[in-house]
Amino acid sequence: MKAPVRVAVTGAAGQIAYSLLFRIASGEMLGKDQPVILQLLEVPFEKPQQALKGVMMELQDCAFPLLTDMVGTDDPLVAFKDAEYALLVGARPRGPGMERADLLQENAKIFTAQGKALNDVAHRDVKVLVVGNPANTNAYIAMKSAPDLPAKNFTAMLRLDHNRAASQLAAKTGKAVASIEKLLVWGNHSPTMYADYRFATINGESVKAMIGDEAWNRDVFLPTVGKRGAAIIEARGLSSAASAANAAIDHMRDWALGTNGKWTTMGIPSDGSYGIPEGVMYGFPVTCENGAYEIVQGLEIDEFSRDRMNFTLNELEEERAAIAHLLG
Ligand code: NAI
Repeated sequence: MKAPVRVAVTGAAGQIAYSLLFRIASGEMLGKDQPVILQLLEVPFEKPQQALKGVMMELQDCAFPLLTDMVGTDDPLVAFKDAEYALLVGARPRGPGMERADLLQENAKIFTAQGKALNDVAHRDVKVLVVGNPANTNAYIAMKSAPDLPAKNFTAMLRLDHNRAASQLAAKTGKAVASIEKLLVWGNHSPTMYADYRFATINGESVKAMIGDEAWNRDVFLPTVGKRGAAIIEARGLSSAASAANAAIDHMRDWALGTNGKWTTMGIPSDGSYGIPEGVMYGFPVTCENGAYEIVQGLEIDEFSRDRMNFTLNELEEERAAIAHLLG
């Protein structure tokens, strides 16, 4: 049996964590041969700390063979100590009457502090996934606040958008979702994201040719994927949680264990590929191998795609400008 690895999860008493922690502990994220120690962070208030205790009692009651230990805390320095994986789920939600700018500022404070704590105590190869919104900008802030850790260790979750796009394409073509390859999502985890199926295949056949309907792409597919989060809230009265947790598992599993040459989407700091300015936390097509991701290169960018990629880039640059003063 391998030595256990430390997995930190923030927002551990929240609704995404309730769908996430049990799957990490059961081995769905890092493999059925990888024991884990869960290090769970919540805010220092009685109610969430009490709720966290309850979640930990339930984790205990599952008697997961792979869960060798767990810690619940309100201190990021405890939660991130020697962590090899950190899933930053906890974030400040948008309250009534709260402007987007206020939301950015409130979250910037959280992710500056958590970036610093990761910088100080996490394992030097820690893989960080930011789920809490605005995910790309929060990941950017954490990365900038952790100068001693490699920037490539910080990622944002675009996988839910990717999975949503895949399921829409499966429904449209009547094919199995598992048969879809070479799908990708560019940009920000927000309604501005650009899900791009121009290169996608099903059993080697072009999905674009199979659908053959550009109006559907523009008028149905992209708005459906972009507004899916809002549609879930409308239907369920609560935001996506199980599907978000599932996407977090997919993201980390692929990053840690590899994609066998298949493409997926991760929000990562740009290296300048495809004209996206260096450092911007942007959704890119990647393949993963040996615990590292690599951007899929050489894709042709047509005019429609460039417009969409710039649109979502502009939003990210606006978000970055709004918090720049906090990064010193
Ligand atoms: P939730 O409100 O149920 O849980 C969030 C938990 O985080 C709360 O228990 C809260 O006390 C905790 N928290 C807040 N600040 C914290 C901090 N500084 N340190 C530790 N814990 C903290 O929310 P839910 O549904 O679990 O969603 C969490 C986040 O994920 C939200 O920001 C949501 O918008 C985002 N999200 C992102 C998606 C993506 O695709 N990237 C998809 C769905 C949700």
